[in-house]
Amino acid sequence: MTNVADLLKAPHWSTDIPMSTAHVRLPVIDERGFVVLRDADPPIADDEFLSLEYMDWKSGGDTNFAPVATADGELDCQGFWKPGDERPDKGGIFTSNAERCPTIVDHVKSVGADFGRVRVIRLEPQTYEASLPHIHRDDNNRFNPESTGWVVRQWIELTDNPGAFMVLMEQGPDGMPDQSTEVHIPMHRSARFLVDTQRLWHVVCNPSDTTRYALISSFESGPALDDYIRANLP
Ligand SMILES: [Fe+2]
Repeated sequence: MTNVADLLKAPHWSTDIPMSTAHVRLPVIDERGFVVLRDADPPIADDEFLSLEYMDWKSGGDTNFAPVATADGELDCQGFWKPGDERPDKGGIFTSNAERCPTIVDHVKSVGADFGRVRVIRLEPQTYEASLPHIHRDDNNRFNPESTGWVVRQWIELTDNPGAFMVLMEQGPDGMPDQSTEVHIPMHRSARFLVDTQRLWHVVCNPSDTTRYALISSFESGPALDDYIRANLP
């Protein structure tokens, strides 16, 4: 088995991202750091994501991103942290891409929780061994006041890529991913799940020979997100 410790050099930038804070969290996510929902039904049609404008932005492998909602509505992959205009990953504003994906927009609004960045990711094939060096934690709650809800992320898989899965690991006492906690979330078209990606180290393995597309949305933890999750558990 591939040993993640052999692939990552300490210190790693993820280790310093805060993990224990006073933000409102949801027990339904907190139990394992992720929660799998029922598949999205009906599936999101191909033209909703194939017609979007994609930008070159690398995160977790050979990736491109189509921003659907950003901090200011511009097609920008890092807009929430503009110097002098730093904002938490909430209060997202739809971009020009939103006009091309009305089903995605309706879905994001229907969750009812405050959302931040909403993006379609395009990931080229990468084996398990090639994916592991990209495992990391997200900085979802930078500038997010601790009196408010912890920002987590939802995935909806938009394509079928045989054998694809998300790798999740808790952080060990050494500040690096603890492979003894490794969990795989199977990914098929319409698979839907939320992950506390600031807590769990994560990366996606796509060993198929096809490009993978997925919708990734940031949501604020609170009663609305809790209601949405409970209404969509398997
Ligand atoms: Fe991430």
